[in-house]
Amino acid sequence: MDGLYDIIALILGFITKEEDKEYMVLFINACVRQDSRTKRLADKLLTDLQGPVTELRLWDMEFPVVDEDFLKKRDQLINNEMFSDPMFDLARQFAASDEIVIAAPYWDLSFPSSLKQYLEQICVLGVTFIYGPDGTPKGLCRAKKLTYLTTAGGNFCPLEFGYGYVEALSKMFFGIEEIRLIKAAGLDIVGADVEEIMSAVEAEIHG
Ligand SMILES: Cc1cc2nc3c(=O)[nH]c(=O)nc-3n(C[C@H](O)[C@H](O)[C@H](O)COP(=O)(O)O)c2cc1C
Repeated sequence: MDGLYDIIALILGFITKEEDKEYMVLFINACVRQDSRTKRLADKLLTDLQGPVTELRLWDMEFPVVDEDFLKKRDQLINNEMFSDPMFDLARQFAASDEIVIAAPYWDLSFPSSLKQYLEQICVLGVTFIYGPDGTPKGLCRAKKLTYLTTAGGNFCPLEFGYGYVEALSKMFFGIEEIRLIKAAGLDIVGADVEEIMSAVEAEIHG
């Protein structure tokens, strides 16, 4: 029986994969500050990558409130396989992208809430993932690679509530195989040589 779900996942993944043939990088930008150090790292990576880059400036986007009406409408659309509804635009775009880059500063042990709002919009059953009969998710996304860039003010920056969550979601739900973290920490510590820390991390960045 599990085999049947594998085939469904394969077909749905194939349909998604065929939607957009041009190699496309999706840049999910949660860096709100004009002089963002996280964005600086992302820019270094993006210059190394091939293909057109589509940027989503999360702080500039209006996400719908995920209330009961929203959930009812979404369930109805999913049950009727109406995946072309605008409600799923972001999820379809994510699923069809060849490579994902997320830039998010380290905020309050995690990341800015706009990134969580975005992730809520792209976790769509039948578009970015499907469940097997045992409840195990299988990814439907085209991307093989996701890079998560972050910078932190201090050196105490456990990663499980920010990067760790995105890593688990990307691997287990979206089926993205290669997840990479690029991090510069300790930037706001008094006396820190910010340029030295940033340059050292930038030197390790290759697309
Ligand atoms: C709202 C907010 C929350 C932050 N929370 C933390 C934190 O929990 N731990 C930490 O080390 N730095 C924290 N910082 C500092 C930032 O991580 C640091 O300045 C980072 O480099 C900002 O990224 P940016 O230059 O890309 O904006 C916080 C900064 C802001 C504005």
